[in-house]
Amino acid sequence: MSWSIRNTTLLLILLLFACKKDRNPTTNPNPPIPDATDLSDISYNPIAYELPDVFPLPVMDIPMDNPLTEAGIELGRFLFFDPILSGNEKMACADCHFPQSGFTDNLAVSTGTDGIAGIRSSMSLVNAGYFTKGLFWDGRIKTLEEQALLPVEDVIELHNDWESVVEKMQVHNAYPTRFRKAFGINSTEEITKELAVKAIAQFERSLLSFNSKYDRVVRNEAFFEENELIGFELFFDEPNDLPDAECGHCHNAPLFTVNQYFNNGLDSVGSLEEFKDKGLGAITNNPFDNGKFRAPSLRNIALTAPYMHDGRFQTLEEVIDHYNEGAHFADNIDPLIKTKGLGLSEQNKKDLIAFLHSLTDTSFVNNPAYQNPFE
Ligand code: HEC
Ligand code: HEC
Repeated sequence: MSWSIRNTTLLLILLLFACKKDRNPTTNPNPPIPDATDLSDISYNPIAYELPDVFPLPVMDIPMDNPLTEAGIELGRFLFFDPILSGNEKMACADCHFPQSGFTDNLAVSTGTDGIAGIRSSMSLVNAGYFTKGLFWDGRIKTLEEQALLPVEDVIELHNDWESVVEKMQVHNAYPTRFRKAFGINSTEEITKELAVKAIAQFERSLLSFNSKYDRVVRNEAFFEENELIGFELFFDEPNDLPDAECGHCHNAPLFTVNQYFNNGLDSVGSLEEFKDKGLGAITNNPFDNGKFRAPSLRNIALTAPYMHDGRFQTLEEVIDHYNEGAHFADNIDPLIKTKGLGLSEQNKKDLIAFLHSLTDTSFVNNPAYQNPFE
């Protein structure tokens, strides 16, 4: 065979492959279905996980169909930290909800696994099991289980599809055993996205913060410094000569949120239709809800900058300045937000910030049970 014929044949073969590739750019229409593996020989002895019953935390409502177990929480922790959930296997839930940052990412708006930025700031998952009046800044999702389905397929978050995540877990060297131990499944075929999100939700319900200085003070285990005490009095409008900062009405103890939606005066608008991000209004279609967002918990707030749904404030000082003198009027601004200002002095502002720092719980963010299990 001459050189040229051989080269031409090669070229034809190459071209054929190239064309084939072009017609099927990314997806294989018939991905191999992994063989089911029997798991029934692996022991299944679920141990119920009791949430610590510590004052001042209230009792948590746990859904009947997803009781907490040690193996369930452990599986959820692996999934939460595993980049296997993302399309390019580069990003995990934890990359936007990092324990040491109070389970946020310290960015104004989050950037997903393909480097594309979203429009909202990551939210803290501190005591997330108590957020029962809607999740996300706009409350569009009801349960942690439902929520955990979304980031995997969101193109500006993990940009994957559950089908391929489930396939990878079915043939994985460790997940089948973990699913068996958590949910008693008998075969790898029974691994589903529904079980995966149940496990993630169990892990999230185990994220409890109750050892901040504030908590220790209310348990009579510690004392506030003078400036923290004044900050506490400002925050909760204690009856005294100090101004009322009004914070505690919307960020009430012990969760430091009432889990409700308010317009806290961030934007100046001529009409309720003008909010750039309509927040709750986009979900309820009620214009009076436009520009309302969920008042988030302020636990560990010193660790979660920048602040607000779009991360517009870099520091707690900027947040206090907003409430003290920068609130903008709109028809639905909450009456507790004073466009005329709160009348806090420079010293009052410092004291309020000292109190906010007393909500930082280092034993929570450094809890070994919440760290990356792959490290
Ligand atoms: C690219 C960054 C990113 C990734 C990855 C990500 N999140 Fe989030 N998360 C966010 C942002 C941003 C919000 C707020 C979104 C909104 O309000 O529209 C949020 C909100 C949440 C909330 C709501 C909290 C509340 O108080 O309402 C939960 C729960 C949550 N994420 C869990 C997860 C889980 C579980 C995963 C993995 C399956 C995950 N997130 C992956 C950025 C991310
Ligand atoms: C009328 C209810 C209300 C009052 C009063 C109020 N807040 Fe807020 N707060 C909110 C809402 C709603 C948000 C979220 C707004 C957004 O992002 O659009 C918020 C957000 C915050 C944030 C940012 C949280 C984060 O995770 O980014 C901080 C910090 C904060 N408030 C502190 C305070 C302090 C301190 C006071 C008292 C000076 C106060 N708030 C008074 C409703 C209120």
